[in-house]
Order: sequence, then structure tokens, then C-alpha cells
Amino acid sequence: MSLSVDVVVMAAGKGTRMKSALPKVLHRLGGRALAVHVLDCAARLSVRQAVVITGHGADQVEPALAQAAHQLNDLPLRFARQEPQLGTGHAVLQALPLLADDGVTLVLSGDVPLTQPDTLLALLRECDGQHLALLTLELPDPTGYGRIVRNAGGDVTAIVEHKDASAAQRAIGEIYSGIMAVPTRLLRGWLARLDNHNAQGEYYLTDVVKFAVADGLMVKAHRITDAVQVAGVNSPAQLAELERAFQRRLAESYMVGGVRLADPARFDVRGELVCGADVEIDVNCVFEGRVLLGDRVRIGANCVIANAVIEDGAVIHPFTHIDGEKAGVTVGPGALVGPFARLRPGARLGAEVHIGNFVEVKNSTLAAGAKANHLAYLGDATVGERVNFGAGSITANYDGANKHRTVIEADVHVGSNCVLVAPVTLGAGGTVGGGSTITKDTSSGALSVARGKQVSIANWQRPQKKS
Ligand code: UD1
Ligand code: MG
Repeated sequence: MSLSVDVVVMAAGKGTRMKSALPKVLHRLGGRALAVHVLDCAARLSVRQAVVITGHGADQVEPALAQAAHQLNDLPLRFARQEPQLGTGHAVLQALPLLADDGVTLVLSGDVPLTQPDTLLALLRECDGQHLALLTLELPDPTGYGRIVRNAGGDVTAIVEHKDASAAQRAIGEIYSGIMAVPTRLLRGWLARLDNHNAQGEYYLTDVVKFAVADGLMVKAHRITDAVQVAGVNSPAQLAELERAFQRRLAESYMVGGVRLADPARFDVRGELVCGADVEIDVNCVFEGRVLLGDRVRIGANCVIANAVIEDGAVIHPFTHIDGEKAGVTVGPGALVGPFARLRPGARLGAEVHIGNFVEVKNSTLAAGAKANHLAYLGDATVGERVNFGAGSITANYDGANKHRTVIEADVHVGSNCVLVAPVTLGAGGTVGGGSTITKDTSSGALSVARGKQVSIANWQRPQKKS
């Protein structure tokens, strides 16, 4: 963009109706704080900087947003405190010392998360470095919003806040979205002229329209029809409504890309989901963090999958929980996981691995073709090709102080209900008898049994109840 744009994000308000200890702009939508959506949109416009006006909860808001900025093309981010909060005009006034007169100021709200970059680009084109440009919208119920007042010729002459509006003005359906683009040198002059003589006793940013008109300047209104893009969050109900709108849009974009969603209304992405070709996702799945699904991957109903790579042709059966956290999880091509499986950080499953119901895998590598089909725990283990890990067997990887590794070489067969006390290595091709507690390394090809020998006493008389 040829214009130098500075974004001002208003985020000092209290958010009373959220009834939450968390500042409103840090509430999450699609897994990201509301204000981070706003900053992300700004970053996509390659703006010169963003200045966030903070007040209520500033000590929480500022570090949270500063941390997020690193993931947003390193958007230059600064903060200006507004204490006390005397209105939107007063809010922008706090940012002025950080804004240079050669630029355009784009005013956004930290609680309006779903504005699209294209919409803001169109607004900036209207502004063109010389005009005051307002983003507006026609609403069936404009109650509570500032109304766009026009003269007989259709030119914008003022924004009148709902509480200050006459009955005739309240009948106007066109509202101010809270988003404007304005040449900074003009804004500076107008903000100096603000007063708080109005119904709310606040310094209204919207009064700049009046001043622009008085100065003989054209006020441009860029009217859009998509209400979701300017919808704000003031209450948990509005947050939930926007969450659905956001998810619905995402779901549609995945379907356009060929992903088959069983029901786009029951699909949630709270991070970044990348899908290959011919992916199928059943109902009620939640994706968090960064998740990659390869070609032909199928995800069953009610799975929660976070920070994982699921390779081509793998199938995740219903009710499976996968969370790679920082270390990640990899599910190899053609692997079968679940139902009711749990993959934790550092689980690396090779090709065609089978992980069945009630099996937990953490920080373990399973080579191609290995299987743990029922009721098992594999932690800190290196499992070779084609190993069969029996029902009810576990690696005892923790001695109360330290974690130790278990190595199970290729083609080992571990029977049911075994405890492998780490550190321990099971030699290739060996067999472990069911119910064994293995504390020493086993050699290749051997059968190892470590349990009390079975004893049978013939004709055993059970004790009789005394009368
Ligand atoms: C504002 C507009 C109104 C518009 C509506 C759209 C004004 C005077 N009115 O009204 O025309 O239709 O948005 O949603 O601008 N904030 C601060 N400091 C303050 C006051 C507010 O940072 O002193 C922040 C809030 O946290 C919020 C944003 O500014 O993010 C908007 O404030 P809000 O009080 O919601 O303004 P509205 O009355 O809704
Ligand atoms: Mg509001």
C-alpha cells in the first residue's frame, strides 16, 4: 500500500457485560484472543504500526498482545494507556503522541474481531490520504449505535450517538461501525476541539465528522452489507454467536477446498488446520494449535486433535484425543488410531501402526506395523517394527524421580498384563509371557516369563462357614 497507515486499536473499555475477570479483548474466538484477530487483520494490511489503547486490565492485555505480535509478521506494536476512560475520542487522543502526521490513522476496536482485510483496504482507498472515511452498515435494528446523518444531497453531515439522537434520527438504519480511516494531521486538529457536552458526558470520537463538515471536507461512507464483519462482542452470548459465524465461514472454506465435513455446524478449528486431498471429518471434532491432515485422512466423530501431523491415509476413529503440545505428535501413513485412544507429546507412530481403545502413548516411537490394540501405556519407549504389545501391558517408565527408556526391538511379542520396568531392552523377536514383570534385559528370540509359578493342589476343600 502506498499510504502509510497507523492502526489504533481501542481496547481500554471494561467489558462489564462479560462478567469476567479476564479483560474482554483477551477472550478467545477460534482459539485466539479477540484483539489478536484485530491485530492479525492489521498485519495483513502491512500497516506501519499498531497502537493499542489499554486501560482496564492493561497489565494483562499488554503482555498477551506483545507476545502474539511475534506471530503476526512481527507487526510493530505499541501501547498507550488511557486512565480514566473518558470516551472513544479521549482514547484515540492517547495514541496521538505515537502517530506521525504524514500517515493515515485507521481506528479499530479490540472487540470487533471479524473484519476482513479487503474491507479495510476499500475503506483506506476511500480515505485516500485526504478524506475522513467511515465504515457503515444498514441494520434492521440499529438500537444503541451511532447513526449516520446525511443531508438532502446524501452527503454525510454527522454521526449522532443513539443516546443523543432525536426520534427522527433514531429511525435512521445506517450506523457507524466504530471503524474509520482519517488523515492523521486532520485527526490531530479535530481531537483538540472535542468536548463532552452530550448525553453520556464522554469525548466522542464520532464528533470528528461534525468538524470535518465544518471545515468543508467531504466525509466518505463505505457501506458494507456483511454485519458479521463489524459485530462487536459485549456479552458471552455475542461471543458465542460470533464464534459460530467464524466457524461456519471456516467450514465453508474447507469444503470449497474439497474437505468433506459431515456437518459444517459441528466442526471447530481453534488454530491452524491444513488438509490434503479427500479428507473426511465426522461430526463434533475440535482442532487446536497446528494440525496437518494428509491426503485421504479420515477423522471419526468426537475427536479432539491438537498440534499433530496425521499422514496420508491414516484413520483416527471416534473419541480419540491427540495433543502434541510443544513436542508434537506424528501419525504415520495408513495408521489406525482409536476409538478412545490418547496420543500425547512426542508420540511418533510409523506407517500402518495400530493404536486401539484405551491405549496411551507418550514420548514414544513406534516403527512401521507395530500394534498396541487394547488397554496399554507406552511412555518413553522405542518400539521396533511389527511389535505386538498385549492388552493391559505398560512401560513403567518412572521410578518416582526420573524417567527411563524402554526399548522393544523388532518383532517382539509382549503378552497381556506385562509390566516392563525401565530402563530395559527386549531383544528382537523375543516373547514375553503374559503377566510378567520384566526388570532385566531379554535376549533375542527368547521366551521370558517372570511371574509366580502356577501351583495346583488337588481336591482342595474350601473353608466352610462356621454355624
Ligand atoms: C461506538 C461509537 C458508535 C458506534 C459503535 C459501534 C462513539 C462515541 N460511538 O459506540 O457510533 O456505532 O461504537 O460499535 O465512538 N473504549 C476505550 N476507551 C473509552 C471508551 C471506549 O478504549 O474511553 C473502547 C471500548 O473498549 C471499545 C470501543 O472503544 O472497544 C468502543 O467503545 P464503546 O463504549 O463500545 O462505544 P459504543 O458506545 O458502542
Ligand atoms: Mg460498543
